[in-house]
Amino acid sequence: MNSHLRSAMVFALVIILAGCGAGGDNQGLEYAPNMYHSVPYEPLSQITEEGAGEAAQFLSDTEDGHGEYYNSNPLNPNRMTMRVPPANTVPRSKGGYLPYRIPKDSLDLAARILTSPFDSVEVQAILKDGEVLYDRFCEHCHGAKGQADGLVAEKYPGVANLTGLAYQNITPGHIFHVITHGKGLMGAHGSQMSPEERWKIAHYVKKLQNQ
Ligand code: HEC
Repeated sequence: MNSHLRSAMVFALVIILAGCGAGGDNQGLEYAPNMYHSVPYEPLSQITEEGAGEAAQFLSDTEDGHGEYYNSNPLNPNRMTMRVPPANTVPRSKGGYLPYRIPKDSLDLAARILTSPFDSVEVQAILKDGEVLYDRFCEHCHGAKGQADGLVAEKYPGVANLTGLAYQNITPGHIFHVITHGKGLMGAHGSQMSPEERWKIAHYVKKLQNQ
């Protein structure tokens, strides 16, 4: 074994053993540490130790006088990047909708209190979208005209005829709730489309009923 190879092996052994010294706050020797420690601000992890990175002789390229991986946000309380939302705030979804909290078994309540975000003029404009969505999500069971003659209904009886007398007076909110949570044999569709899309379908179903 020539001496170069031997010293290379000794060197590798020293590195490996040095890397084994992890424990507590000491993560041991890391290979390519900038794969683990983010230099930019991160929402959930901050490195607060100003000299972080210096020990490993990595130079700071942020010219802020801190170590390489110091990424605490000096502008926010507790140097956190993510801010705590103000008390009692509620997240809204993309269209500005509040989370839907009416439980599945409270269909009557939903039918009574839910109001569509579309006024009577807007409804005319969204019926076309409603038709596309209805054909995509409902037609295979309820049929193109809502008469429970979709391909699935041929094989599995029990699909509601939406044009039947029993459903003539249901509100768009009632339909919205049934789409969101499902009912009986019908599965929930809430996770598959936005609240806005559900309202569009609900209005289209009302149109089918009035034809
Ligand atoms: C897999 C088949 C299937 C699909 C898809 C489906 N439904 Fe249904 N739907 C049913 C069945 C079955 C019922 C009867 C449920 C019951 O009362 O047991 C029903 C009932 C209904 C009712 C009546 C609820 C009531 O109050 O009794 C409405 C309204 C309705 N569906 C709308 C829709 C709309 C809108 C879509 C598309 C987003 C849709 N359904 C998709 C099978 C389906």
